[in-house]
Amino acid sequence: MPIERLHDPSVITFASDNYAGVIPEVLEAIAVANGGHQSSYGADAYTARLQELVKEHFGDAAEAHVVLNGTGANVLALQSVTERWSGVVCAASAHINTDENGAPERVGGLKLLPVETPDGKLTPDLIDRQAWGWGDQHRAQPSVVSITQATEFGTVYTADEIADICDHAHRRGMTVHLDGARIANAAAALDLDLGEFTTDVGVDIISFGGSKNGMAFGEAVVIVDPEVTLGIEYLRKADMQVASKQRFISAQLVALLEDGLWLRAAQHANEMAALLRERLEEAVTDGSAVGLTFTQATQSNAVFAALPRAAADRVREQFHFYDWNPRHGETTTEVRWMTAWDTTEEDVEAFADAILDALDEG
Ligand SMILES: Cc1ncc(COP(=O)(O)O)c(C=O)c1O
Repeated sequence: MPIERLHDPSVITFASDNYAGVIPEVLEAIAVANGGHQSSYGADAYTARLQELVKEHFGDAAEAHVVLNGTGANVLALQSVTERWSGVVCAASAHINTDENGAPERVGGLKLLPVETPDGKLTPDLIDRQAWGWGDQHRAQPSVVSITQATEFGTVYTADEIADICDHAHRRGMTVHLDGARIANAAAALDLDLGEFTTDVGVDIISFGGSKNGMAFGEAVVIVDPEVTLGIEYLRKADMQVASKQRFISAQLVALLEDGLWLRAAQHANEMAALLRERLEEAVTDGSAVGLTFTQATQSNAVFAALPRAAADRVREQFHFYDWNPRHGETTTEVRWMTAWDTTEEDVEAFADAILDALDEG
C-alpha cells in the first residue's frame, strides 16, 4: 500500500456526480496504459484508438481533441467556431454562463448572450430573443447556439428538439455547440446512441463529458463537422488544455467507449434518480411528505425539489447535497439531489428515509 487511505469510502452523498470515484474498469485502464514509453501530447496508441471509437459514435468526419476539464472543453469548443466579435446564445442557467467564472469571456474572448428558460432548455423562439443584430457594429455577432444535454436542471432535449434548434441556428448562419458534460446520461434517458441526437440532427461541435460518467479526470472536444472549426490544435495549447501524458486520459475515454461502459454507468445513475423520485412521489401522494414539491422533471440523474429549509438542513446532517436556489421561498429552499454511477439502491432508500423523517419532524 503506497499511501494511507485518508477518507472514509463508505460515505455517500447526493451532492454531485463529481463526488463519485472512478469506475474500476476505468482505473484499470490507466494501469493498462502504464509501462514503457509512448509519445506525449496525444501521439499515443490510446488516443489513436479513441479517434476510431469517436468516429464509430459520431460519424466518419468526427475527431476528438482531449482536454483536461469541462470548462476547458467548453471554452476551446466555442473559440474554435467563433471570431473575435462573436456572441454565443445560451440558456441563462448554462454552465458556461453560471459556473465557469467567466472563462468563456475572459479566456475565450466571447460575449455570452443568455436567455432565461423555465427548464434549462432553449427553443427556436427563445434563441431569437438574442439572435439578432447581425451587421450592427454595436452588437456582438450571434454566431453560436450552445445547448447543454442533459441540462443543468437534469432535463433532456429530445432528438427532434435538437434538430429544430440546429435547423433554426443553421438558417441564421450560426453553429451549434452541445455541452455534453452529461451526454451519456442524456443518451441513456433517450435510449439513443450518441450520434443520433448530435451528428444526425445537425450538432456541429460537442464538449464530451468523461468525469461525471466515471473517469478520474479528462474530457474531449468532439468536432462533428471539421469544416466549421479553425485552429483547434493551436487553441488547445494556448488554452492550456494539452496534457503532456495524454495517453492516461485517452485510455479512460477508451475504457468508457469500448464496450458500452459509458452507457451502463449512465443508465444506472439515471435509474437511481428515478428510484429516488418514485420513492418520494409515493410519499407525497400518500400525504407523508408534507412540504415537499418537485421543481423539475427527473429525466437524467438529478432530482430537483423544494422543501422546508429546516428539513433540508436536518437531512444534510447525514447526507451532503447542495441548495440549488436557497432564495426559493421564505422558509423553503430548492435543492439538487444527484446520483452517480456508484449510487446503490440501498443508498437511495436510506436517503429517501432521511428526507421523509426530516419532513415528518416539521
Ligand atoms: C453542464 C456542465 N458543463 C460543464 C461542466 C464541466 O466543468 P469542469 O470544468 O468542472 O470539469 C460541468 C461540471 O459541473 C457541468 O455540469
